[in-house]
Amino acid sequence: MALSPNFLDELRVRTPIASLVGRRTRLTKSGRNWKGCCPFHNEKSPSFYVYDDHYHCFGCGAHGDAVSFVMQSEGAGFMEAVERLAGEAGLEVPKPTPQAAARDRTARDLHAVMASAEASFIRRLHLPEGRPALDYLLRRGLTPETIREFGIGWASGTRGAIAGDLTPEGVSASQLLEAGLVREGDRGEAPRDFFFNRVMFPIRDRRGRTIAFGGRILGDGQPKYVNSPETPLFSKRRALYNLDRAKEAAFRGARVLAAEGYMDVIALHQAGFGGAVAPLGTALTEEQLQELWHLHPEPVLCFDGDAAGGRAAARVAMLALAQLAPERTLRLATLPGGEDPDTLIAKSGARGFQAVLDAAQPLSEALYTLIAGNTQPTTPEARAALRHKLEEAARTIPDKTLAGEYRRTLLERFFAARPRPGSKPPPPRITRRAPDPLAAREDAARCALTILIANPWLIPQVEEALGSLELPGGPATRLQNAFASWLSGPHALDSASLIAHLAQTGENDALAWAMRPEGLPQAAQPNTQPGDAENGWWHFFIRLRGEAALIDDQRAAERDWVETNDPGAALRLQRLTEALAAQRRGEADTAEGDGSFA
Ligand code: UTP
Ligand code: MN
Repeated sequence: MALSPNFLDELRVRTPIASLVGRRTRLTKSGRNWKGCCPFHNEKSPSFYVYDDHYHCFGCGAHGDAVSFVMQSEGAGFMEAVERLAGEAGLEVPKPTPQAAARDRTARDLHAVMASAEASFIRRLHLPEGRPALDYLLRRGLTPETIREFGIGWASGTRGAIAGDLTPEGVSASQLLEAGLVREGDRGEAPRDFFFNRVMFPIRDRRGRTIAFGGRILGDGQPKYVNSPETPLFSKRRALYNLDRAKEAAFRGARVLAAEGYMDVIALHQAGFGGAVAPLGTALTEEQLQELWHLHPEPVLCFDGDAAGGRAAARVAMLALAQLAPERTLRLATLPGGEDPDTLIAKSGARGFQAVLDAAQPLSEALYTLIAGNTQPTTPEARAALRHKLEEAARTIPDKTLAGEYRRTLLERFFAARPRPGSKPPPPRITRRAPDPLAAREDAARCALTILIANPWLIPQVEEALGSLELPGGPATRLQNAFASWLSGPHALDSASLIAHLAQTGENDALAWAMRPEGLPQAAQPNTQPGDAENGWWHFFIRLRGEAALIDDQRAAERDWVETNDPGAALRLQRLTEALAAQRRGEADTAEGDGSFA
């Protein structure tokens, strides 16, 4: 039978076996899997188990995948079963032709070619020519064990090296071409090596067979990574780097997470996060999301804390909505600005990354901000437009009950976010005062602290002011103290190191308290301009400091300025003077009107 392995893989990915079996027998959840009474023999207590991609009956030994289930339960032939499942999955069965049979044989041969190529690259990494590459990998913190496990190798800078290595093994010129190891030469010249002077990362399919390579240049240079072209074995939309190993790890209980690059996955593996995968230089596709859900019902997607990361997260979230089910959702983790998992782990270890994972948001929580952005619409027209977008997003979810729940959650957020006064004259002051002064104070403290978490470079500048604040006890004070102890340590002044420090000092709870998404000030959002961060901080500082204390501060700043002529002191003096003037006019509590809130 000449159905391509690619087609059968695709069919399997698109056919949730539990729902297929569920039509024949009642299934209940059993850990990550399902169990029920065997549809193939009579039994009273369930011994029939349904896994990710196969079923097994411990009573009668029935065993197989989706196709064999249809064959066994309906007495269908192989092709008949395939046709039926393909029809339900919206796939067209490729016609079994002699060409298809030939393609099948080629694919089997190509797997052997790729295995030989991998062996050749690995061998060369350990020859003198590969020494700089090996040193490079070790310098980047990979252990020899990791290098071996991931099959990392070296593509020689000698022309024709791969052909030279593989031809004696019986690999033909056309196979090299078809495997994407060489490319057609110009005008009748000999084919040229596809990978040249590069560190080679084998890309494997879910069964662990090498189907492509990613090649990294040593040091700087462009393009940084080159990936194999599309071949009969390799489809960039479908493949995920490290899928085979992540699948094993997930089976043993590892968190499944998607990062951006090869080196991220490897660094994560070394730090103990074995369930990491990455797409191959593109945003996650629908097919790749499906694969992730095969590994785990709630994979975590890691995104950069910058604007591009936010856009990527929004894109994947929308893609995911159309496939969402009660058993199939996502979490979104945001890395501190400028870091990838590799650099974060290098700076703050596994605990630093664990803190990022712990702060990952369920899709349902992240969605509102992904759709609404960080600003609140104020006009009725803009609010109506946002409401439409929110309702439309919820409608995308196929499961009606779940869609209803999402709609409710999104709209609750929508109505909780009051429109800001905009250009209207401010309402009488009395109605704007926070109903509970303690809660208001706690909120202001939280805002001031989150601005510092997002902009740790600011902490040394405001150290003294921060120390002078009497914050409400609990997480606010704990963070205030933790910041002080972080400053005294030998750290880089970035979010990664701060977050790692909080993790190490046991302040994960306080961090989560501060960073919950509701009501974060604008200045704590990713990509805030330094000036805005500074303004935001002083704004909340002034709200937290009483008048008597502000007068003391003003005197001290004045003294400082006279004595040192320091521009920082001048700025402080100016702000404090303005703040005091505002407070005396009775305007100090107008924070909600000044655009500081997201
Ligand atoms: P990055 O540029 O973030 O690389 O690209 P990285 O993973 O951090 O790699 P190092 O740490 O510098 O070695 C992320 C992913 O995007 C793809 C690769 O899959 C890479 O792992 N990429 C990147 C390309 O395909 N081509 C490129 O030129 C660059
Ligand atoms: Mn990197």
